[in-house]
Amino acid sequence: MAENTAGLRGVSAGETALCTVGQSGTGLTYRGYDIHDLAEKAEFEEVAHLLVYGHLPTQAELDAYRERLQGLRELPVALREVLERIPASAHPMDVMRTGCSMLGNLETEADFSEQDWHIDRMLAAFPAIITYWYRYSHQGERIDTRSDEPSTGGHFLRLLHGATPDPTHVAVMQASLILYAEHEFNASTFTARTCASTLSDLHSCIAGAIGTLRGPLHGGANEAAMAMIENWQTPDEAERELLGMLERKEKVMGFGHAIYRKSDPRNAIIKAWSKRLAKEVGDDRLYPVSERVETVMAREKGLFCNADFFHASAYHFMGIPTALFTPIFVISRLTGWAAHVKEQRANNRIIRPSADYTGPELQAWTPIDQRG
Ligand code: COA
Repeated sequence: MAENTAGLRGVSAGETALCTVGQSGTGLTYRGYDIHDLAEKAEFEEVAHLLVYGHLPTQAELDAYRERLQGLRELPVALREVLERIPASAHPMDVMRTGCSMLGNLETEADFSEQDWHIDRMLAAFPAIITYWYRYSHQGERIDTRSDEPSTGGHFLRLLHGATPDPTHVAVMQASLILYAEHEFNASTFTARTCASTLSDLHSCIAGAIGTLRGPLHGGANEAAMAMIENWQTPDEAERELLGMLERKEKVMGFGHAIYRKSDPRNAIIKAWSKRLAKEVGDDRLYPVSERVETVMAREKGLFCNADFFHASAYHFMGIPTALFTPIFVISRLTGWAAHVKEQRANNRIIRPSADYTGPELQAWTPIDQRG
């Protein structure tokens, strides 16, 4: 394979009307809307509606959509039983994958005319799946996953903390969910589309995408960034340790990007929220450490923060356990994945690329007693 296309970099693998990355606006658009406008002005459910149903909802449509989602938040008993059997030591992304798959066993998508109902159901149920498991396995509590929080971000925080969420935290969660909702043909979305192209069911497409997002080179980077910065007490210590990492040629999670070359447009938005939260909680460690890491990475490697880096501190300031960072990404990206599955199904041809063969030439069969 020619070097510059390794990892299919620069290769167009299909068409989409959903998203552009590094092409227009401030660098990321969903159906033609700039990410800065969406993150500043929209509710996450408006963006979910835009992606899944193709247009920004009217007020009446948004109200009806939110009401529909609220009505789908309770988990089936059999799913709760499965979640209770998953140990506290499990990886939360494995919990999400199993939860999604179990939902597919209980509520199988019989044919594609049902896809919208299942997408709504998953969007309503995913915050419940992760928080139900977390609260049961870590705190021994069986929570009621119904809530009248109108927003997905507020609902997640309420289930996680068992209390009315702080309005600023709800706003941060909603913005975060918007930032993570869609990103063109990234690895997990491509997995979902490949699965959809075989005419498989929605839950299989999403379960495959969750498995792909789990890796630290993709969604797992926000957790990995947190694990790194929480070790450092001061910006000077961070700089010292970071220089050591770079010398040892270690990857620094939360930096760099496969498509963006100069900056990730999502970073400035989540960084501003992280700064505000740092002030509110009186942090004088994590945020200054994060800023120093950003400065050193730019100076030493010319690398910039991607969306994941300042998400780590922002989530931490809201009391979200590190292990739940990537599942939040799932709750959000589900909308992008589902929109891509719909798009693939609407104009499908099975995805089946070719490979450049690098194995042996054609050779004669060797009987077993003549091998070795
Ligand atoms: N830390 C240290 N070095 C990095 C780096 C990072 N986070 N990201 C890229 N580099 C280095 C690469 O190792 C490469 O160096 P080399 O040529 O000596 O091998 C060089 O910068 C160019 O890499 P690039 O081609 O731009 O990256 P990619 O397209 O292969 O990979 C990522 C993109 C996102 C997988 C990669 O930047 C990475 O692993 N980042 C950390 C994980 C992460 O934050 N993922 C979330 C993405 S939203």
